[in-house]
Amino acid sequence: MLAIIFEYFCTKISTMPFQKLKPEIKTILENDNLSVDHRLSQVCEVLKENIPYYDWVGFYFKNGDKDELKLRSFAGEPTDHTIIPFGKGICGQVAVSNENFVVPDVKAQTNYIACSINVKAEIVVPLFLNGENIGQIDIDSHTPDPFSKEDEEFLEWVNEKVAEVLS
Ligand code: SME
Repeated sequence: MLAIIFEYFCTKISTMPFQKLKPEIKTILENDNLSVDHRLSQVCEVLKENIPYYDWVGFYFKNGDKDELKLRSFAGEPTDHTIIPFGKGICGQVAVSNENFVVPDVKAQTNYIACSINVKAEIVVPLFLNGENIGQIDIDSHTPDPFSKEDEEFLEWVNEKVAEVLS
C-alpha cells in the first residue's frame, strides 16, 4: 500500500513541470496574431527555458514532396543540419518509423548526426496530421539519459496541439 502511495506521488512530482507548461503552450499556439512559424519558435523557447535538460528544441517538417526533413523553428544553438534525408540520423529514422525515438546515450548510436559535442542524449517524437507523419519535435540534451515516459507523453501532447494549428 505504501509503495502504491509513494509511486503515485513520484508520478505526480515528475509530471508537474509538464502540467504547468501546458496552458502556456496552448496560449502561444492559439495566438492568431502571430504567424505559425513565430508561434512554433515561441513553443521551442518556452520548452528550452523551462525544462532544465532541454538544451536544443526544434521542429522539423517534411520538405514539400521530397523525402527529407527541413528545420522550421528552433531554440538553442544554430545547427548546420537544416535538411535531413529520410532514414539518416535519429530524425530521419523517425520520419520513416513513425515511432518515438529516445536515445539515452548518443555515443551508442551508429546512425546519428552530431550537432554539437555537448549533446549526450536526444528524443524525437513524430508529429501526425490526419494520421500522416508530417514532421517531428527534436530535443537535444547535455544531460546523459534524462528522458522518461513523461517526456514522451508530454511531447506527444505538444505535437497534437501543433497539429491542430496546422490543420
Ligand atoms: N541529431 C539529429 C540531428 C539534428 S540535431 O540534433 C539538431 C539526428 O541524428 O537526426
